[in-house]
Amino acid sequence: MHIEPFVMERWQSTYEHQVELNLSDSGVHPLTVQELLEPGESESLLDQRLIYTQSNGTPELRDRIANLYRDADRENIEVTNGGAEANYVTACTLVRPGDEVVLQMPNYMQLWGVFRALGAKVRTWELTPDLENDTWHWDLDRLEQLVNADTRLIAICNPNNPTGSVLHSEALDRIAGIARQHDAWTMVDEIYQGAELDGTSTPSMWGRHDKVVVTNSLSKAYGLPGLRLGWILGPEDFVEECWGRHDYTTIGPGALSDHLAELALEPVRRQRILDRTRDILTGNLAIAMDWVNGQQQLRTITPRAGAFLMLKYEHGINSLELAERLRVERSMLLVPGDHFEMDGWIRVGFGDDVDTLRAGLDRLSDVLQQLDASSV
Ligand SMILES: Cc1ncc(COP(=O)(O)O)c(C=O)c1O
Repeated sequence: MHIEPFVMERWQSTYEHQVELNLSDSGVHPLTVQELLEPGESESLLDQRLIYTQSNGTPELRDRIANLYRDADRENIEVTNGGAEANYVTACTLVRPGDEVVLQMPNYMQLWGVFRALGAKVRTWELTPDLENDTWHWDLDRLEQLVNADTRLIAICNPNNPTGSVLHSEALDRIAGIARQHDAWTMVDEIYQGAELDGTSTPSMWGRHDKVVVTNSLSKAYGLPGLRLGWILGPEDFVEECWGRHDYTTIGPGALSDHLAELALEPVRRQRILDRTRDILTGNLAIAMDWVNGQQQLRTITPRAGAFLMLKYEHGINSLELAERLRVERSMLLVPGDHFEMDGWIRVGFGDDVDTLRAGLDRLSDVLQQLDASSV
């Protein structure tokens, strides 16, 4: 199977550990194992035998995940290595050559590449920026026009990466209705659920019609990307099929990750983790917005969720060129809008520690000022 490069992930994989300041991440500053554990728990971790655990996730972990959703149980859950594997396995299970899929854009772009590699015809449903009103618009009538009897699935990322916008219940119900009408699936990547700036958890797509698959992971809202722990939530027979595919990818999650994920999703601890995330997001967004407001020729739309800010600049330079210049001359990494097919924009992650954020924004100001000066 030929697959096009996943350019954003390639960019991050290649450079994120080579630069001094990495502002390309979309989640919050990760927890240490120590911060995750409660006092006295390290023994249980050290005693963990490094076996192949139950390959679709231990029943205990699947129960914890299922409890996050109304009317779900462990048979609806497949535990994967991160949201990336959850998306990959789901797409490979659902999509056949020649299928039409409707993909919300802009998007994280993993599914863009996978759908195309699977031989699907990708139609895009665009979110459009409205800088004047500080919001992203979506047009559900347009979505309705894009979906037809050949549509296999509608894929959405909610909250959305890279815009940080959120579709609420009414819109999700309408999308479910459109899918139902054409017997299509909806596949919703909900990885930023729990990373909302105002503390209101984004409603899940789960339960809105029969053919819903949700993917998620502990990488963003929980600050645990190094666990590589994600999941697929779907109808029981569909999840069973995904498990069979998973045998071909990574078999199952790591034993330590499964164990630590079970601890992270213990309700009181989960709340503690999400509170930490919210504190980081609100504190750092204030710093980032303050900085944006002091910049000429730079505008943004306040993200409703996620630790990233899309910035629209007017400096007459291609976004990949700008990102390359920052990387080579200033040893900092951010994501060029080109990676989302949005030249003229850059994505800046604001979830890291405050010193890294401030230093990164300073370096970005310097380069933008140089560009201003050279255009005079
Ligand atoms: C929307 C979205 N889905 C999936 C992933 C991959 O998640 P994970 O690190 O859990 O594999 C990312 C990572 O940035 C993402 O933004």
